[in-house]
Amino acid sequence: MKRVMTLFGVVCTLGISIAVYAKDKADGMESMMQHHQMGSTTDHRTSLHLPEQMKARQLANMRSHLDAVRNIIGLMASGKFDAASDTAHQKLGLTPEMKKMCNMFENDDFRSMGLAFHKSADKLGDELKTGDMKRSLAALHNTVSSCVQCHATFRQ
Ligand code: HEC
Repeated sequence: MKRVMTLFGVVCTLGISIAVYAKDKADGMESMMQHHQMGSTTDHRTSLHLPEQMKARQLANMRSHLDAVRNIIGLMASGKFDAASDTAHQKLGLTPEMKKMCNMFENDDFRSMGLAFHKSADKLGDELKTGDMKRSLAALHNTVSSCVQCHATFRQ
């Protein structure tokens, strides 16, 4: 009888341990899911209400901006400041094409943020022309800050 009671005790303890472990795991999962949900449901950015036909083009334009930043960093790393300057002016600067693209958006704040961004890229191009790494990095930081600022404010 004593042996049976001991066995019962062991089984109960084991059962409780498993239950506690399972609950801990479930709580962990829940907080992880809440965390993910927070990321997706609390999007307070202003929507531009872009028409469907503009969406893909805008994103493609964005991806080419990112590629230009990558190329500029690579050219700087290999000391090719003139080429980096050209990339900044041609791919990110306020070219007539970029100006036209920015002016297609109806939101005034978005448009002026876009124009300020392209102007900062022309400034970056000018700084790169000097071949000064520190000044170029400061200008690049400024330009990338424009990317971050707009992304924090607007969505498609
Ligand atoms: C004037 C505003 C503005 C500026 C400046 C801007 N972006 Fe964007 N970008 C957007 C918007 C709006 C989206 C769409 C975001 C959304 O709907 O969630 C976007 C999306 C993107 C995407 C996602 C592309 C995809 O295919 O999903 C990348 C990458 C990106 N931007 C890179 C950049 C980089 C790099 C810069 C700066 C060199 C930059 N952007 C500057 C407004 C901007």
